[in-house]
Amino acid sequence: MGFRTLGDADVASKRILVRVDFNVPVEAGRIVDDARVKAALPTIADLRKRRGRVILISHFDRPEGQRVPSMSLRPLAPILSQLIGAPVAFAEDCIGPIALGAVDKLRDGDVLLLENLRFHPGEEANDPAFARALAALADLYVNDAFSAAHRAHASTEGVAHLLPAYPGRSMQTELEHLERALGSPKRPVIALVGGAKVSTKIDLLNNLVGKLDYLAIGGGMANTFRFAQGHDVGASLAEKELAEIALKILDRAQALGCRVLLPTDVVVAETLDPGAPSRVIELDQIRPQERILDLGPVSLRQILAAINESATLIWNGPLGVFEVPPFDAGTLQVARHAAALAKSGKLIAVAGGGDTAAALGAAGLADDFSFVSTAGGAFLEWMAGKTLPGVAALDS
Ligand code: 3PG
Repeated sequence: MGFRTLGDADVASKRILVRVDFNVPVEAGRIVDDARVKAALPTIADLRKRRGRVILISHFDRPEGQRVPSMSLRPLAPILSQLIGAPVAFAEDCIGPIALGAVDKLRDGDVLLLENLRFHPGEEANDPAFARALAALADLYVNDAFSAAHRAHASTEGVAHLLPAYPGRSMQTELEHLERALGSPKRPVIALVGGAKVSTKIDLLNNLVGKLDYLAIGGGMANTFRFAQGHDVGASLAEKELAEIALKILDRAQALGCRVLLPTDVVVAETLDPGAPSRVIELDQIRPQERILDLGPVSLRQILAAINESATLIWNGPLGVFEVPPFDAGTLQVARHAAALAKSGKLIAVAGGGDTAAALGAAGLADDFSFVSTAGGAFLEWMAGKTLPGVAALDS
């Protein structure tokens, strides 16, 4: 990482354009998780303390270049105001006279939130004119939105070339933890990769097997691998058309010395209802109407043993259907085990991705992990070894 840090910037009385990710999950009009708002607080506090004038920009949802009232960022202003204990002004546009007028009113230490960047098509198109209009608002640019850094948009990429650019506190913390987990990790390293589909994680798996000592595969994606190896998966979710790709990943892992752990016993049920009758079976004992919904005890012990031997763990994706008890048991036991080792300093444990962060949060374990990323897509692309345009643009 060749970029400077925010501490190097002279921010007093400067107008600072801060790209945050306030794309928070909302259900029935209510924000259900404010972790992304909280992630922006260290940068905002730092800039205010040093008398900077803070101009926050973010996208929210996918309005596709249209002004969609239900996707306004306005409701975020009072929420942020409460968190920082100071007023947060709001402007109904993120460029042009309305935004410039609001910026002109700022005094040292003030905070302004601008309307959803994606109300303008120029944002996602990384239109140079739109990037210039953003840059016209400020003296400095700070990107504190790791979770949007996989997008080459005007506010994450284009504008970084037009103003002196710095990573925010949260972006920096995120990059440091990710580097520690996969860039130059303490070995042995284990990754736990779960979730429904192999198709979304092919690049990630191919990249990981070149870097890991152990790869434990769980969730629906493990079925695709087991099917590829000739096992019966009953009515389970499996991407049968990916069998060949799955076998190639396993071959590559073997050639590179990465030991892959796939479930050998599993929990199956005929329906996915909470508390549905279930049974533990060896893989090939499945009945045609049954679905694999969680790890069995032998597979679980195997993963826990590999974690015990590891110094670093990186996790993306639940290992069973964790939203529906009792099929959350495998994910929860692994999470508790990793959290306890991380808490006692025996393991560096980093997790990321929407479902994984939600599972750890719901189990009250997120604080015991060394780090839980608020990023979804960006975390996956980073695990796949891809260059994130929003990070690359900060590199001086
Ligand atoms: C995310 O939620 O992963 C980021 O905010 C990016 O959102 P997007 O997938 O709509 O670009």
